[in-house]
Amino acid sequence: MRQMKLGLFLAPGGHHMAAWRHPQAYPAGFSIKSYMSVAQTAERGCFDMLFVADVFSTTANGERQDSFRFEPLTLLSALAMGTERIGLVATATTSFNEPYNVARKFASLDHISGGRAGWNIVTSSSTLEAYNFGSSHHRELGERYRRADEFTEIVRGLWDSWEDGALLIDKAGGRFFDASKLRMLNHVGQEFSVRGPLTIPPCPQGHPVLVQAGSSEDGKTLASKFAEVIFTIQRDITEAKAFYAEIKSRAAAFGRDPAHALVLPGVMPVVGRTRQEAQDKYEELQALIHPEAGLAGLSRTLETDLTGVDVDGPLPPINIESLSQSRAVGMVEAARRDNLTVRQVYERLLVSKGHRQLIGSATEIADSLQEWFEGGACDGFNIMPAMMAGGLPDFVELVVPELQRRGVFRRAYEGVTLRDHLGLPRPGAMAPSV
Ligand SMILES: Cc1cc2nc3c(=O)[nH]c(=O)nc-3n(C[C@H](O)[C@H](O)[C@H](O)COP(=O)(O)O)c2cc1C
Repeated sequence: MRQMKLGLFLAPGGHHMAAWRHPQAYPAGFSIKSYMSVAQTAERGCFDMLFVADVFSTTANGERQDSFRFEPLTLLSALAMGTERIGLVATATTSFNEPYNVARKFASLDHISGGRAGWNIVTSSSTLEAYNFGSSHHRELGERYRRADEFTEIVRGLWDSWEDGALLIDKAGGRFFDASKLRMLNHVGQEFSVRGPLTIPPCPQGHPVLVQAGSSEDGKTLASKFAEVIFTIQRDITEAKAFYAEIKSRAAAFGRDPAHALVLPGVMPVVGRTRQEAQDKYEELQALIHPEAGLAGLSRTLETDLTGVDVDGPLPPINIESLSQSRAVGMVEAARRDNLTVRQVYERLLVSKGHRQLIGSATEIADSLQEWFEGGACDGFNIMPAMMAGGLPDFVELVVPELQRRGVFRRAYEGVTLRDHLGLPRPGAMAPSV
């Protein structure tokens, strides 16, 4: 029976925007112990992977919890030491990095973790990031995605720097490696010149798993061409089915097996032993939303200064042309369609960063996940617990067993690497790790 894939989107307090204010929330910030506890709980629930997002900037807004973050590969390297099977996926932007550094870091994580690394390719949507990298403006979307395309080709090429058998470690003969088996990349392109090779032997997985999360036309092209996992944001099953069908057919048009382009929409679950208990937990979090955090968060997501607007009035005109397709445009369209006030937009949509919310008993949540999974809307989910403390254990102890009983989710890991969990082939004919 086809099995759903589950990612756990890490966030220190939780994914509800006010989670960090809850009395039971983990310290929302720099406690490696709470991150480790989350990682181990997710592994107990047989999740395919952990996912750590990243942005190279912070806002001057004191009500937000996501202003502080660990550097993701450093964090995942630490978590690799306290876990054994769960995949470790991190964002690295192609706009403010060099391909050589990215290839090397993810190859290192793949070795450190014994084949569990994945790279979420993003182009960065915030101009604030450009300010930290010697620029006063962010490049336009098309240009960013052109760079991302060349960048990703180079990273893959660098991961293929060493042919099978290049590493000899021949102590008696005194030869460490066979230089004739090094593959120089010698890439000269529009954005980059990279000679290669990489300073690290072939990865346990051949290549770390490639992940992508943009939904604009250019984003979908990049996803269809390269991504083995696609994070997405549809709240409606009809839209999700259309997105799913489009990604599968576009992946096939690139000559890929559509089964190797896994689509995982984000979901923010609030699980209770009964629907009422779940609803109460949700209301408790909703009551903790600071109105200024709502407005500031919305201003940031919609790239429009909403300071001073009437929160009980309609959303003012927003220019959606330059906005991120995956988050912001959907939010503006839903606000217009359903006549939402500004307060309703942040209370209903922004609280879960635009992702679908599932509030109910384990049976109800499992019903909905199964309906999407079996209805051709996805290959699994990126789970975003509203609260990490309490919320993730509830999901693992109540929803996961329900999915297992229905035969749609694994009861134990069958393999070792992230590729094993996801049913993805190992690229290249490289030698196994030493
Ligand atoms: C689940 C999910 C996770 C994301 N993680 C990141 C991230 O870590 N860093 C980032 O800059 N953008 C992130 N994004 C945003 C997209 O990757 C993309 O860069 C942005 O939406 C703009 O591209 P688009 O217009 O093609 O959607 C994420 C989006 C989704 C749905």
